[in-house]
Amino acid sequence: MKIYAAQFVIHSNFPVSPSLPNLRPQISNMSASAEVKRITTNTLQKMKSSGTKISMITAYDFSFAKIFDAAGVDVILVGDSASNVMAGHETTLPITLDQMIYHASSVIRGAARCLVVVDLPFGSYQSNSDIALASAIRIMKETGAHAVKMEGGEEVIESMKRIIDAGIPVMGHLGLTPQSIYKFGTYNVRAKEKTEAEKLKKDAGMLEEAGCFAIVLEKIPAVLAKEVSQSLDIPTIGIGAGSDCDGQVLVMHDMLGINTEFKPRFLRQYLNLHEQITKAVQHYVQDVRSNDFPNQSESY
Ligand code: KIV
Repeated sequence: MKIYAAQFVIHSNFPVSPSLPNLRPQISNMSASAEVKRITTNTLQKMKSSGTKISMITAYDFSFAKIFDAAGVDVILVGDSASNVMAGHETTLPITLDQMIYHASSVIRGAARCLVVVDLPFGSYQSNSDIALASAIRIMKETGAHAVKMEGGEEVIESMKRIIDAGIPVMGHLGLTPQSIYKFGTYNVRAKEKTEAEKLKKDAGMLEEAGCFAIVLEKIPAVLAKEVSQSLDIPTIGIGAGSDCDGQVLVMHDMLGINTEFKPRFLRQYLNLHEQITKAVQHYVQDVRSNDFPNQSESY
């Protein structure tokens, strides 16, 4: 197994999570110039080895990235789910490499401590390994992100190897791979049948062998995710893959309840921001109409 990682030391006044004193970045003191160590692919590997679960969440802009980074999340994923939740497309297919670069470069300005991983969007790596490498290089150069994520197994292994050999850390993604939605036809649970489960296990081994630093397992049976997680040295990050993965990931709009129509079984909704924002905006409209806002103390 090859592990590709780098250590960055940066300055930040962001607090870090109180848990995981050994693995999370260390703050020498809590002053404004406290030195924070960036979470790296090495950190994630150590977390797996010590049985410490990894938390990952998606973000697509500066402001939310800054909040999530300060809240103690380990990894921010600039997911191509931006295509759905930011741009309103039905699938992840339409988002372009330029648009992913825009989102990722905004996120990176808010993330002082987290590892930031960026999805290679549909069409930016499937055709051949030259194009895949060029796309990954653009993401690294133009955003300052720390790693890329790619969907697929054996079909994309050559591209993954070239990207990893160029020094770019790659996170794999197996199971339900939304960029292939028109091939699957549904967003149902994957790999329930033996043949598909066997292929997924084989793919996971190939990804580890190729040098991926982690693998997302999306919407597969918990027993299969457990078997894969135990068989690999690198961490697995689950979404709809049970509690035995080495970490978990959720899309921010789903877990914060901005998006309330999407209610898959695996989703835990921690807030109902849709309701709270609606109430706040209705209140504002009312205050403007009644001339209650702005009042004297809000005027110059
Ligand atoms: O794009 C995304 O948000 C993802 C997660 C669902 C893992 O790939």
